[in-house]
Amino acid sequence: MLSTKTVLLGASRRPGLRRAVVGTPVTRRVVERFVAGETLPEALDVVARLTGEGLAVTLDHLGEDVTDPEEARGTRDAYLALLDGLAPLGLGADAEVSVKLSAFGQALPGGHDLALELVRPVVERATAIGTTVTLDMEDSSTVDSTLAILAELRRDHPGTGAVLQAALRRTEADAQALAVPGSRVRLVKGAYDEPSSVAFRDRRDVDAAYARCLGILMRGPGYPMVGSHDPAMIDLAQRLAAEYGRAADSWEVQMLHGIRVDEQHRLAAAGTKVRAYVPYGVDWYGYFVRRLAERPANLRFFLRALVSR
Ligand code: FDA
Repeated sequence: MLSTKTVLLGASRRPGLRRAVVGTPVTRRVVERFVAGETLPEALDVVARLTGEGLAVTLDHLGEDVTDPEEARGTRDAYLALLDGLAPLGLGADAEVSVKLSAFGQALPGGHDLALELVRPVVERATAIGTTVTLDMEDSSTVDSTLAILAELRRDHPGTGAVLQAALRRTEADAQALAVPGSRVRLVKGAYDEPSSVAFRDRRDVDAAYARCLGILMRGPGYPMVGSHDPAMIDLAQRLAAEYGRAADSWEVQMLHGIRVDEQHRLAAAGTKVRAYVPYGVDWYGYFVRRLAERPANLRFFLRALVSR
């Protein structure tokens, strides 16, 4: 039998369902919890508020799986406008951006080269205003291409970051390869439904893999970014940081906007660097459905809002 998670992750890529959900007033209300608005000014307001409260941010202009190069160029332009909007705030590396290469055309024919060509000016603009870009990781078929693009970008922009998904069997080796000086790596559990040939399917196996990969990154000379809401993983990161004598500014915790907000502030107040991942834009459907799939409580929250309309 299919799990709720599998059904929802399938729905996150189905255009028919997308049309049925996007635009209903109730969805909009619930989406606001996870998404910082549909426009750049709305997102910049949220950035100003969160950084004023002592958090760093990484901004995601929502969108994925573009269907033609013109749309991919639109993604590039949206990120350039975002960086131009961030520049006057003078936040430097406290406000960086996260990109999904599928929104830069990675899955189109010739898409590897197109995505590299279109993301490069975004990375250049980020460097010019004193900040960085992190390449989000999408489904397992994209990992080789994304890591190759990362290697290209890091030649001139060594601060460019990547995401590794503990659920993938290959990730321990990728973590070893990326545990090099200056390397910014966000370790997450993985949000995509992957077959057991390439991924651990049991939650306990994913957690054990996360702990192993975290050990590799925290021991290494890079800059680990602990992308998780899981208290067990955050405790482990703090223990490892103490064990390896890591300075407070040599690693960080990252959580999604709207999730465990009190904990984000508690950690930041206690001296851990915390960065909120802040998505914005009209194309929030795929992101939103993945959040529902992750956690029954998120789904219950959505269903409650539907009935209490
Ligand atoms: P998990 O979902 O396993 O939950 C473990 C525990 O954490 C729970 O039992 C609970 O205690 C606590 N918890 C989790 N959610 C909570 C909530 N809503 N409220 C209260 N407690 C909660 N994925 C990907 O494939 N590619 C990517 O590029 C990214 N990028 C990314 C950036 C950032 C900053 C984050 C935090 C996450 C991602 N992800 C991602 C998503 C990631 O792969 C994963 O799906 C989610 O983070 C959920 O996994 P967790 O580690 O948070 O814990």
